[in-house]
Amino acid sequence: MASFNTSNRGTFGSRFGFIAAAAGSAIGLGNIWRFPYVTGENGGGAFLLIYLFFILVIGIPVMLSELVIGRKTLQNPFGAFKTLKPNQPWFLIGVMGILAAFFILAFYGAVGGWTMEYLFQSVQNGFAGKTPEQLGESWDNFQSGTWRPVMWQLIFMIVTMYIVLSGVEKGIEKYARILMPLLLVIIIIISIRSITLPGAGKGLAFLFKPDFSKIFARGETLTVNYKIILEALGQAFFSLSIGMGTLITYGSYMKKSSKLGSSALIVSLTDTFIAILAGVAIFPAVFAFGIAPGEGQDLVFKALPNIFLQMKGGYIFALLFFMLLTVAALTSSISVLEVVVATFIEQFKLSRKKATLIAGSLISVLGVLCVLSWSDYAIKFGEELHFFGLLEIIATKFFLPLGGLAIVAFLGWFHKKNSTLEELSNNGTIRVWFFKIYLFIIRYLAPIAISALFVKIIIDLF
Ligand code: PHE
Repeated sequence: MASFNTSNRGTFGSRFGFIAAAAGSAIGLGNIWRFPYVTGENGGGAFLLIYLFFILVIGIPVMLSELVIGRKTLQNPFGAFKTLKPNQPWFLIGVMGILAAFFILAFYGAVGGWTMEYLFQSVQNGFAGKTPEQLGESWDNFQSGTWRPVMWQLIFMIVTMYIVLSGVEKGIEKYARILMPLLLVIIIIISIRSITLPGAGKGLAFLFKPDFSKIFARGETLTVNYKIILEALGQAFFSLSIGMGTLITYGSYMKKSSKLGSSALIVSLTDTFIAILAGVAIFPAVFAFGIAPGEGQDLVFKALPNIFLQMKGGYIFALLFFMLLTVAALTSSISVLEVVVATFIEQFKLSRKKATLIAGSLISVLGVLCVLSWSDYAIKFGEELHFFGLLEIIATKFFLPLGGLAIVAFLGWFHKKNSTLEELSNNGTIRVWFFKIYLFIIRYLAPIAISALFVKIIIDLF
C-alpha cells in the first residue's frame, strides 16, 4: 500500500490498493452531504442529469489525465509540471491545486466536525423522542454555536493530520477496505426505510423526474441558467476529487503495471452510485418530514435523524452510519492534505512531520473561520454569503474546473501523444477507439465546454 516517503517513493501494493485509496478519496462528504444539498438547491432531477453527463463525459477523462501525469512523472502536481515543462508556467496548476486544497479542507473540516458531533449524539441516543421541528432546532443551536463546532472541527483536523503523519498504509486504509463496503450496505438499508415512508414518492419524483424549467426558461427567447450548469460541473469535480492534483499525487504512487483506464472507471462509477444512493436516502425523508429541499448546507443533518427515529434498531443504524461517514470523510480529507504535504516535502525539502504540521495548522485556522459562519462571529460578504460559502464557491466552481481545464488542455495539446498512449496502455496495446474518444475529449470537447461555460458566465456578469 502507499507509503508516502520521499527518499524512497512508495507504490500501492496492488491495483486494489490504489482503487481502495482513490475510492476512499472520492467517496466522502461530497456524496452524502454535498450532493443532496446542491441537488436540492438546484431543482432535483434535471440537475442530476447534467451532473451525470459531466461525470461521464468530462470527469472520467480528467481523472484519467491526472493519473497519466502522476504515474509518468512520479511527482506531486507542482513538481510534475516542473519536470514536464521546466521553463513554462504550467506549474501554476500545482499552485492553484494547493490553494484549492487549503480552501476545500477548511470547509470540509467544518462538515467533518459536524459529522463527529452527530456521531457523538448517536452514541448518547440524542435524537430519541424528538419531533422533526425539535431536531431542526437542536441542529440550528449546535451549528450556530461557537466553541462546540470549533472543537469538533479541530478534532477532525487533528485526526486527519495524525493519519497523514503516520502514513496512510498503516492506519486507515486497512480499515477503509472493510468499512467502505459496509457504508454502502448501511446506506442501502437507510434508503429502503426512506422510500417506504408515507409520502416518499414526492422525494423520488424530485430526484428522478427532471424538471427542465429550472434550467431553461422559455420566454421570448430561450434563456439558460448557466449557474446551475456550473454548479453541476463543480460538484462532479468535487465528488471525483479531480482538478487539484489529488489523482496526480495518488497516480504517482501507482505501480507501472496497473491499468489506469479501468481503475478510473471503477472509482468514478462507484462514487456516482453512492451519491445517487444518498439522494435516494435523503429526498423521500425530506418530503415526508416537511423539510425544504433547498435548505442548504444542513439538509442531510436535518433529514437523516428523522429516518433513524422511524427505523427498527434506529439507534444502531444511526451509530453505524455516522461512524462510517466519519471514516469516509477522513479517507477524503487525508487525500486533500496529502497533496499539500507531498508538495511541501518534495519542493521545500521539509520533513513529513514539519510539512504536515505547517499545512494542517494553517488550514485549521481557515477552518475555524468557516465553522463560525453561522455564529455571532461570522465573517459575511453581503446578506447571503459567509466565509464558508465563499471558500466553497471559489474552490468548487472555479479552482477545480479551471484546474481540470488546464490539465486536459496540457495533455491534449502540449504533451506528446505517444507518451500519453504509452502510459495509458502500460507500454502495451489499447483499444484504438478508446484512445480516439479520449483524445477527442481532452483536446476538444472538455476544453471547449469548460471554457465556453466560463466565458458565458463572465459575459453575464457584465
Ligand atoms: N471527493 C471528496 C468527497 O466527495 C472530496 C475531495 C475533493 C477530496 C477534492 C479530494 C479532493 O468527499
